[in-house]
Amino acid sequence: MSNVEVENDAQHHAQHHAQSGTGERRLQAHFDRTISHNQRIEPRDWMPEGYRKTLIRQIAQHAHSEIIGMQPEGEWITRAPSLRRKAILFAKVQDEAGHGLYLYSAAETLGADRADLTERLIEGRQKYSSIFNYPTLNFADVGVIGWFVDGAAICNQVPLCRSSYGPYARAMVRICKEESFHQRQGYELLMTMMRGTEAQRQMVQDAVDRWWWPSLMMFGPPDSESSHTVQSMAWRIKLHTNDELRQRFVDMTVPQAEKLGVVLPDPQLRWNNERGHHDFSTPDWSELKRVIDGDGPCNAQRMARRRAAHEEGAWVREAAGAYAAKQAAHEAGKKRQEGPAG
Ligand SMILES: [Fe+2]
Ligand SMILES: [Fe+2]
Repeated sequence: MSNVEVENDAQHHAQHHAQSGTGERRLQAHFDRTISHNQRIEPRDWMPEGYRKTLIRQIAQHAHSEIIGMQPEGEWITRAPSLRRKAILFAKVQDEAGHGLYLYSAAETLGADRADLTERLIEGRQKYSSIFNYPTLNFADVGVIGWFVDGAAICNQVPLCRSSYGPYARAMVRICKEESFHQRQGYELLMTMMRGTEAQRQMVQDAVDRWWWPSLMMFGPPDSESSHTVQSMAWRIKLHTNDELRQRFVDMTVPQAEKLGVVLPDPQLRWNNERGHHDFSTPDWSELKRVIDGDGPCNAQRMARRRAAHEEGAWVREAAGAYAAKQAAHEAGKKRQEGPAG
């Protein structure tokens, strides 16, 4: 069954039940029970409009982040210091394209149109992660992105493997496996540089200093200012709050930094025995707001590149559309020849 048919089917059910008066309430009760039993909602199931809309927005933003996220590291593919590093980086950036595609497909199962989502991105009506609006100044940035940014992605996404929407949860399982490879390649790159010259060690420390705070901001605003959290957690499309995930990331990263031999740029960062977690300083939330609102160091550049890639790819979409139409006409012709009984 196509997505459209599934959707119509679900709508038909909904209308049918709604006409019977208590139908809508019964569907909502069934939905609530499915969620509270930790079971999955699938594309053909009835779901509240708010759930569908919020999920489309969340999955689309995630997909856009994967695609825009190819840019900061992609800039280093031609400048990688060895063939081995080039091959690794190529594979990593290509994985991110794949993640974007799985996620756009997951959004399509909710009735979203991929071309429409792309339009929303390039017109600036939908967001992507703030982190990709920072520049990659030297090759150590590639390592630090793998360690911090893919590490933060893992903190965010591993819980989503248990999210309530089936296609999203299943996409997340594969994505997380690849993210964990990304994190390790970043850390291994940094380990290699730390065993190198003093200049290389300084490059690593410089990249750590620049990426630490933007990485903490990736988890979003503090819980006290996060508007969607309560409803999204009730729907189980968000399983932990921004502050919980940020804390988890800090606790995970501190021992890795010690092993690597770099200093995380926060004088307040220390273990708190009572809480059983590390204490750390408050990120500059005004910077996060500025970057989200479009005024980060690379926002304009990232959007211009994405728009250009979309325009340059127009002929591929046209060719694929023409080929699909030709195939469909060919199939229809074959069916006519075979006759109604065939
Ligand atoms: Fe990814
Ligand atoms: Fe990744």
